[in-house]
Amino acid sequence: MSIETAVLVRRNAWTLPNGDETLAAYAAAVRAMRERDADNPTSWAYQAAMHGTSAEPPEPLWNGCQHGSWFFLPWHRMYVYFFERIVRAAVQETGGPADWALPFWDYGAGGVQATLPLAFRDSPGGDNPLFVAERDPRVNSGRGAIPLSAGSPAAALERPLFIGRTQFGGDVTRVGQFWRSPGVLEQTPHNILHGLVGGDDGLMSNPLTAALDPIFWLHHANIDRIWFDWAGEPPHADPSDSRWTDQTFSFFDEAGQQVQLTGAEIGDISGQLGYTYESAPTSGAPTSRPEAVTMSTPNPPDPEQAEMVGASEQPTELAGAPADVTVPIDRATVESLAGGGNAPEALSERHVYLNLEDIEGERNPGTAYGIYVNLPEGASAAQAASHHVGNLSFFGIEQLREPRGDEQAHGLRYTVDISDLARELAAQGSWNEDALHVTFRPIEPVDPEAPEEEQHAVPESLSEHSPVQVGRVSVFYG
Ligand code: C2O
Repeated sequence: MSIETAVLVRRNAWTLPNGDETLAAYAAAVRAMRERDADNPTSWAYQAAMHGTSAEPPEPLWNGCQHGSWFFLPWHRMYVYFFERIVRAAVQETGGPADWALPFWDYGAGGVQATLPLAFRDSPGGDNPLFVAERDPRVNSGRGAIPLSAGSPAAALERPLFIGRTQFGGDVTRVGQFWRSPGVLEQTPHNILHGLVGGDDGLMSNPLTAALDPIFWLHHANIDRIWFDWAGEPPHADPSDSRWTDQTFSFFDEAGQQVQLTGAEIGDISGQLGYTYESAPTSGAPTSRPEAVTMSTPNPPDPEQAEMVGASEQPTELAGAPADVTVPIDRATVESLAGGGNAPEALSERHVYLNLEDIEGERNPGTAYGIYVNLPEGASAAQAASHHVGNLSFFGIEQLREPRGDEQAHGLRYTVDISDLARELAAQGSWNEDALHVTFRPIEPVDPEAPEEEQHAVPESLSEHSPVQVGRVSVFYG
């Protein structure tokens, strides 16, 4: 069999057959790569620094990661692809399988699969290369699982378009490390996983250290798999804009040689890059509104063009406990948008966006927040699930204080399309035309045995953390 022409299969780390060597071979390769000189591009430290590092002076191709941008998905696909080739070469040198491929961690499948794969936990001898102490201790021990509301790709997979801030892949930006236009997949599950695994101050919580954790790569294989799955579902399509398809990014291959790829060269993973995935993402049960209304307009309006109808007056501080904010809505603006008609009519034809901006903090606390709209007082966890519109997480918050994109940034920004929920509430007569009520509930690792509905409950033990501020919450009609 010729290795050059075979398509390698990336498999689920939790369901590898007994006696499978994939993870042991990865561990041996990680150990070997850690022993290489730091200025060798195929060393563990160099590969991680290509994502991000605070080390000075930077070596060639360091600090290359693309975040908050439509380049997030292609850059990380290329990065993981070349990393996998480097690992495979190290696996072969250490006597492992010639067809080694990177496994993925399908935390969105829920249950035991939402806990850290066993091979990454502490081992009795204490010398497991896949274990790092700098993770949330609950996740690291397997006591805490990623809740489905954070790990499920369901909301991302429902987005009809690639390009856009409330769409699958993020909005148009130039090349640069940290922008403020992530797509839905980048937010959930990507960003939120980083914080939940890294916890307060762990490696995964900060882009400048994340790729030093061996689980980083299995997380990104999973994100790449979700993209592969979404793109294979007509009429979904990757961007055809030449600013995306012709954009070149540079990496190192297993020989330590600089190599380049463009967006046009990576869309067909088996044909162009020689790998595929053994199974499509399991999205668990849909986490938001079980009877989810299908997208009403195939080409939703650009949130940038939408009109603001209300904004919060005070910043909201998040420090580990639930928090609420009321956004007064200006009736006159809503009515003028409806061309003099009444507000419910305005709603049925329009897209409603919730915009969170000027999100600032010293560092990523790890804890993320579920965002709920018009959540009734004393709602059960199951009711809460139907008011859940997205998650707020803080991966990259340190970098946005001194961004490496060339945008003058003021913290993170996050926009959610809440049109479907707004229409449902209006149909039930429970849409308040004068105000929108937004609730933030902390998301922490959960008991892996907890029933799914309970995953929307307020966590029992709240852990206080260094505060994060949401400067303004506003509502836009598009
Ligand atoms: Cu560039 Cu998961 O990060």
